[in-house]
Amino acid sequence: MIATTLRVNGLLLLSVSLALIAAGCGAAGDVRAGRKTVDFNPGWRFAKGDQGDAAGADFDDSAWQTVGVPHDWAAAGPFNPKTGGRTGKLPWRGVGWYRKTFSLDAADRGKRVYFDFDGVMAFPRVYVNGRLAGQWDYGYMSFRVDATDHVKFGEKNVIAVRADTTRHGSRWYPGAGIYRRVVMSVCDPVHVAHWATFVTTPEIDARRATIRVQTTVENHLELSAKASVRVRLLAPSGSVSADGRQQQNIAAGRSRDFQLTLKVDAPQRWDIESPRLYTAIVTVERDGAACDRDIAPFGIRTFRFTADDGFHLNGRRVQLYGVDLHHGHGPLGSAFYPRAMRRKLQIMKDMGANAIRTSHNAPAPQLLALCDRMGMLVMNECFDKWNGTADLLDQSQFTPFMKRQVGNFVRRDRNHPSVVLWSIGNEMWGIEANESGDAPEKVTFMVRQFKRHDPTRPVTMGCLVPQAVGEDTHVLDSLDVTSWNYGRKYLAARKRYPDKPIVYSESASALSTRGYFRLPHPIEKTDYINDDRQVDSYDLNSASGPRDIPDVDFRLMEVDRYVAGEFVWTGFDYLGEPTPYKGPARSSYFGIVDLCGMPKSRYFLYRSHWRPDATTVHILPHWNWPDRLGKNVPVYVYTNGDSAELFLNGKSLGRRKKGVSNAVPENLALARPASASSRDKGTLASHGNDGKMETRWRAADANTGQWWQVDLGKVQPIRACRIVFEQSADRYQYVLRGSVDGENWTELYKQDAWGTRQTLAVRRFEANARYVRIEFTKLKKARAGVVQMEVYASKDLGPLSYYHVIDRYRLRWEDVTYRPGELKAVAYRGGKRLAESVMRTAGPAARIRLAPEWTSMRATGEDLCYVLVEAIDAEGTVCPLADNLITFDVKGPARIAGIGNGNPMGLDPFQDDRHPLFHGKAMLILRSTKQAGAIRVTATADGLKSAATLLQAEVGD
Ligand code: GAL
Repeated sequence: MIATTLRVNGLLLLSVSLALIAAGCGAAGDVRAGRKTVDFNPGWRFAKGDQGDAAGADFDDSAWQTVGVPHDWAAAGPFNPKTGGRTGKLPWRGVGWYRKTFSLDAADRGKRVYFDFDGVMAFPRVYVNGRLAGQWDYGYMSFRVDATDHVKFGEKNVIAVRADTTRHGSRWYPGAGIYRRVVMSVCDPVHVAHWATFVTTPEIDARRATIRVQTTVENHLELSAKASVRVRLLAPSGSVSADGRQQQNIAAGRSRDFQLTLKVDAPQRWDIESPRLYTAIVTVERDGAACDRDIAPFGIRTFRFTADDGFHLNGRRVQLYGVDLHHGHGPLGSAFYPRAMRRKLQIMKDMGANAIRTSHNAPAPQLLALCDRMGMLVMNECFDKWNGTADLLDQSQFTPFMKRQVGNFVRRDRNHPSVVLWSIGNEMWGIEANESGDAPEKVTFMVRQFKRHDPTRPVTMGCLVPQAVGEDTHVLDSLDVTSWNYGRKYLAARKRYPDKPIVYSESASALSTRGYFRLPHPIEKTDYINDDRQVDSYDLNSASGPRDIPDVDFRLMEVDRYVAGEFVWTGFDYLGEPTPYKGPARSSYFGIVDLCGMPKSRYFLYRSHWRPDATTVHILPHWNWPDRLGKNVPVYVYTNGDSAELFLNGKSLGRRKKGVSNAVPENLALARPASASSRDKGTLASHGNDGKMETRWRAADANTGQWWQVDLGKVQPIRACRIVFEQSADRYQYVLRGSVDGENWTELYKQDAWGTRQTLAVRRFEANARYVRIEFTKLKKARAGVVQMEVYASKDLGPLSYYHVIDRYRLRWEDVTYRPGELKAVAYRGGKRLAESVMRTAGPAARIRLAPEWTSMRATGEDLCYVLVEAIDAEGTVCPLADNLITFDVKGPARIAGIGNGNPMGLDPFQDDRHPLFHGKAMLILRSTKQAGAIRVTATADGLKSAATLLQAEVGD
């Protein structure tokens, strides 16, 4: 049998018998009989702003820029330092026009012509030969435009697209323009309707699987047509596993549904370990000749979300090690390149991730094809809120808008085996709190829309507001699975809906800047503000509120086995939302890897925990601390080993074991009897000293004079209190009092000014007492309350009890005195030496190193190469503080698609021929052209020896 390769969505799928494809195929440049699908990405003209009659057929666009899709007009910048960082400081807001001329064969007269857009940001209007042919109203959604009535066969045609982001709302950088693929399809008048083919697997066992293939065929002829649908199922090897046929008459101008049930023997499962894909080839024949063909890759797998035992795939429990991913690609902006996405997924997979959540919008469809092939599970999310960030500007249009969007979303994505959960949206505050009173109906309506197009998968929503699961509320009744963002909020859902499975849809929200280390350690998780406007990478910081460092959630997932698993906020840094430097910075600090995919130290913490069988021995921080000679620089090791020994310049600094804490002073108040003047519903006095950050005591009302107290059990010397408040400490004034008998009180400390913006306060005093009380004297937009009160006999408190959990997952040497040289960690597992790792002090930067992540790309005009750029010393050690400006020269068939360095504060343009290093590194991204050939990249910088590397663009489709 002659085999060829089959590409669907631009991806190599499988080998398919040529004989099969050829049978009845009207050789159309692709494998689909009678259907020409034309890659419509290249050759557009673009101009920003409204341009007179730019929709017109005769408009002169010769002065416009020539661009290729995917295109994000704002990624090139410039950054505007004067705007806030919330949406990335790039010029995405505005109007942009795209135009392209094309011709259609005269021989195709009578055929249907469609344009399929994977996504245009935003509110696209599509004109063909000067007439409005179609439009769409959600920038993240794929849509089809039927241009048949507007095109001319045998002549030149013009398509013009207007994108308008002025009405688009966003909490991050959305991008702008035709940022995803465009395809033109020329179809026989009798053809498979758009996204109509739906493959399901109603029964699966080891011997046999039942495969149901549904589709719809449209007849655009003025005569009725005798149409026959032939379905062939191809096994992963390309051989035919099953074959069936059904025939029906379709009246003129009408459509008919077809449904075939086929059996596949000895089915090969799709799994995260072995993502085997079958393919349904649906061929439409009229008058005995093939006239259209649709191809639907699918997988045979079973899965279920359970209420008590998490997620099961193919009969076994699989812990979801998930990451949330925004749609953008760092220096490429929002432009979707399959190669950038494949790399993104591979980086996450190498860390141990097995699932992604498409936070918070419909992704590019090619992303799902990649997940199918790479064995990644997907929580496929459609919206962030149901308002301006979903492009839903008029709430009175809720019903038709949602029908439209959900219809496209589900019909487009329902064949992907990677998709195991639909999400109707993220953090619908008003809905969760049922502000308008109709939230249960709205949620039910949305769930129904999903089920209408796909009855086989569960539907969920990313929730944040605990009122959504209040005793008498029914907001979430119709969801199959509830998903929760942060801080063990899912506990309330477990109580309210014991039979509903739970997903931890956003965990962590830890913060750090790649390569940036700062001492001393933060005293609490939100102690991160500094003049550099960076966040330390010892991984002790997270955003405020119920957000946490990674270890806290590792522990929760070990304890709460009923939860299917976590999705970490976020896998990659993204443009916009630069908490905590919302003003000056332009990209996030949340990522486990930076904006260019370069790992932060946190990456190795996740890897060491999520991939217990992959060797990880990662030392942090870097070892270049000229200002701390002879001073303390703590060293952490992230490893999948259970212990490690650390050496500095050959001298052992001792062995540490996971699970054994560094000695900490005792918190005398922990779990001792507590009482309070009153308590708010759902809170207890004992929550104020239970050692947990997710519970708290709060007074019943906002009055001052409310108090909380603890009984230490006996009169003893006390020297300090550490208080964690619910809100920042600048909202409370209070008095701390001590007593030996619980009746007569002496003042220990008085806070009679508004404090700092941290949620934590440490107060020192000297007293002998059995009882300690905090009394709130003034309150600013807060109720009296305590998340944690700790009492100590010494002035040295050690780390906050919040941090004690880290010793389960990390190895720490807090007392290392800095001397330059070599740090070495030797890791052990089960008493056996596992591996070792070395971190050296770098000398002065001497030269540039270029390290391409791969050296060959296809000459498609859309393939990419990522080249890591580093400054190294004379011995080849990366200089961790280097910030040299590097200039690039590219010779040959490629151009610079973007350059970045992961600095959230960096305002150097992404599209230029130069960029500074940040903490020793930068990433150069090259885009291929349509030409094959050798590419030579040279990098130069003042004072450094230059570097060059050779890449190849290969002939490819
Ligand atoms: C969540 C939200 C995310 C992101 C995150 C930051 O509440 O769903 O989109 O904003 O907070 O911590």
